[in-house]
Amino acid sequence: MKTLIQNGTVINPDTNLQEKADLWIEDGKVAAVGRSLQGEADRIIDASGLLVVPGLVDIHVHFRDPGFTHKETIETGSLAAAAGGFTSVVCMPNTKPAIDTPETLEYVLRTGRERGVVRVYSSGAITYGIRGEELTDLRALAQAGAVTFTDDGRSPMNPKLLLEAFRTAAELDIPISSHCEEHSLVTEGAMNRGRASEAVGDPGIPALAEELVIARDILFAEDAGARLHIQHVSTARGVQLIREAKQRGVKVTAEGAPHHFTLTDERVVTHGTLAKVNPPLRTAADVEAVIAGLADGTLDAIATDHAPHAAEEKALPLGKAPFGMVGLETAVGLTFTALVHTGRLSLMEAIAKLTVVPARIMGLPAGTLAPGAAADIAFIDPDKEWIVDPAAFRSKSNNSPFAGMKLKGKAVRTMVAGETVYDESGAGKGGAEGQ
Ligand code: DOR
Ligand code: ZN
Repeated sequence: MKTLIQNGTVINPDTNLQEKADLWIEDGKVAAVGRSLQGEADRIIDASGLLVVPGLVDIHVHFRDPGFTHKETIETGSLAAAAGGFTSVVCMPNTKPAIDTPETLEYVLRTGRERGVVRVYSSGAITYGIRGEELTDLRALAQAGAVTFTDDGRSPMNPKLLLEAFRTAAELDIPISSHCEEHSLVTEGAMNRGRASEAVGDPGIPALAEELVIARDILFAEDAGARLHIQHVSTARGVQLIREAKQRGVKVTAEGAPHHFTLTDERVVTHGTLAKVNPPLRTAADVEAVIAGLADGTLDAIATDHAPHAAEEKALPLGKAPFGMVGLETAVGLTFTALVHTGRLSLMEAIAKLTVVPARIMGLPAGTLAPGAAADIAFIDPDKEWIVDPAAFRSKSNNSPFAGMKLKGKAVRTMVAGETVYDESGAGKGGAEGQ
C-alpha cells in the first residue's frame, strides 16, 4: 500500500524540516519527504491548509486499567489520544493493582496492542502499591518494558529508598519521572494556597510542597547520576529550580501541562471540582513562569496528565472529589491558542515539545517523520476555531474545566502506521464544531 500525502506543510522537528512538501508512506512507514515526489499511489490524501506533523507523544496519561475502568479503559483512552492527534502514550502506574509487577505491566502493554488504536507504553511503579514503603523490582519492570519509573499521583517520601531507586535507574539508564509533592505540607488542601483558596475556604496546597520535592529529586539525580524527569511543573520557583539544575549539568528534563499554562486557581472558584488537579492550578505569575519555562527550554515537553474521573466522583464537594482532568482532546487547541498564536512558541518549538522531545526523554521510537520511521502522523488545522464540548470527547470521562472555551487549532486526522485511526470529517460524534 502506497499513500501520498499532498499539499500540506510538513513539520518534522527531528530534522528541522518545515516546508510545503509531500509525504510518501509505504508499508506503514515514511518512505520519503520532499517536493513534488513522483510515483504511483494507491491512495492520495489532500492536506491543503493542514500541518502534517509526527504523531504526538504524551508521556503522561492515566488510562485507569486495571481497576478503574469506569473512568477510562485502555481502548477509550487510546481513542481519546487519537482524537487529540496523539499516537504514542505513556501510562501512569496508579491503577488497581498498581503497575508494580511485570505481570501487570505486561497486561497493560498487551491490552494496548490488542485494544488500543495508538501505541501504548507504560511506566512502572517505584514502590509497591505506590505506598512509598517498599521498592519494586525495577530491573524486572525494565525487562518487561517499563519506559520510566514513577509513583505518579504521589511522591515517595523515604530518602534511603529513593536513593536506591535513583541508583538502580541510573544503572538501567531509565528516567525517574517525579510527581513532586511533600505530603506533610498538603494535608486536606484541594487547590493552590493563596487568595483564591482563602475565598473558597479551602486549606490550600502551598507551592512549597511541590518545590521541596523538585529540589530534593534534583539532588538525588545529581548524586546518583540518574536521569530525572519532573512531571507537571506548576510553580515559578519550581521552574527556576529546574533551570538552575540544568545550568549546572544535572540530567533533568521537565514537562508543562496545558492546564498549567492556561488556567489560574481562579478557575476553581468558577468551575469547582472540574478545576481540581494535582499539582493545583496556581497564580497568574506561575502561569507566566511555566510559559517562560517552555519558551526558554527549561520545560522540555508538553504532557497532558490526562486524568479521567467519573461524573459522580467530580460531583462530590471540593474537598472530597478526586484530583485530575482529561486533557488529550484539548492539548493541541490549548497549545496553539495559548502558545503558538500568541507568539510565545514557534510552530517548530511547539511541535517539538509534543513529539520528538518527549519521545527522546522516554526513549520511544516515535516523534519523527524521518524516512524509515513508522508513519504515525497528526494532521493539524492550525486555524480551526472550535468550542470545547466534553460531551463529544472520545474519552470515557468528561471532566474538563475547558468546556465552552473557544480554541484555535485542532487535530483533524490521525494515522498510526499509515492507517487512519481518527478522522474528524468521518468522526460524526458531533457537537464540537464552532463556526
Ligand atoms: O490531578 C491529578 N490526577 N494528579 C495526579 O498526580 C494524579 C492524577 C490522577 O490519577 O487522577
Ligand atoms: Zn502527577
